[in-house]
Amino acid sequence: MAEELIVVEGSKEEKYAALFPQLEALMSYESDPVAVMANLSAAIMDTFKFLWVGFYNVVGDKLVLGPFQGPLACTRIAHGKGVCGTAWAEARTLVVPDVEAFPGHIACSSSSRSEIVVPFFKNGAVAGVLDIDSAELDTFDSVDAEWLEKAMTILSEKLSGTPERGEKRDGVVVYCASSSEVPQKYLDAAYEMGELIAKNGFTLVTGGGYRGLMASTIDGALAGKGKVTGVLPHFMLERGWAHEGLTKCIDTPTMHVRKQTMADLSVAAVALPGGIGTLDELCEIMAWSQLKLFPGKVVLVNVDGFFDPLISMFDKMREEGFMRGGEIPVKVVSTPQEAIEYIVG
Ligand code: SME
Repeated sequence: MAEELIVVEGSKEEKYAALFPQLEALMSYESDPVAVMANLSAAIMDTFKFLWVGFYNVVGDKLVLGPFQGPLACTRIAHGKGVCGTAWAEARTLVVPDVEAFPGHIACSSSSRSEIVVPFFKNGAVAGVLDIDSAELDTFDSVDAEWLEKAMTILSEKLSGTPERGEKRDGVVVYCASSSEVPQKYLDAAYEMGELIAKNGFTLVTGGGYRGLMASTIDGALAGKGKVTGVLPHFMLERGWAHEGLTKCIDTPTMHVRKQTMADLSVAAVALPGGIGTLDELCEIMAWSQLKLFPGKVVLVNVDGFFDPLISMFDKMREEGFMRGGEIPVKVVSTPQEAIEYIVG
């Protein structure tokens, strides 16, 4: 969107109604949380001309000052302290009509008279708060709370890498090699896996690279007339590593958010032959599956015995009592066809 804010005159409700879609747009076109928070602060400030609008982010055991608009502010707030620290501790919105009457209120500016603090979350835990101060008493009420909570829900979804609202979770994520310097049989299996995912009505969710088994999987899915969502961390996009045929490309700030996003979009996870990156993704999704953090099926396609040594390791873990419940949290199959039958069945 253009960096231009439309501010309407009218009631508080009318102002929020005009502001909200613009906040949504600001959150949809940028993945960097600092950039998003900076523009959210500016948009809210420009609309309402409050005294102070800004973010505090949870860093360890403190809230640390983030992007804001307004006078200088304190940089660190302890858990449970002030309005912000209390909103964090109680994981809920606090509307304070008179800051003088709030026990432990932290006065960053002597002009502040009333305040609202709305927490936002990452994977269920408070990740920070939106704090707004007014120079007037009794500025905020349930109208502010409702609209700002809606905005913070979107920010929370963005930070957690959850699917866009209203978007159906229909993905099968495939973890595999980004290298092309491998025997053709592995590239062929990847192509077949992509094609089968598409033909069975799933979206292929992938690391989105233009090389290796990853590219073959994408080519197979596109040949099967399917959709492909590529999820790449920003530095990979900058290096031009994205496959050109992606139906949708999601830009993430980090590798961790990439993996979380891929899992969040998917009903099942498949591992094909690969190197360290693939092993990392496979082990992580197995651990998440065991912890019930990933509800889908997890399949390992042991193409031509590629994973035999790893499966022996898993067996050793189970024999010696290291596998919780005695089960390896992955279904081992030999071919892409068996993998899709297991996923669909
Ligand atoms: N008043 C807040 C501190 C932050 S400033 O308002 C920017 C509080 O009591 O937590």
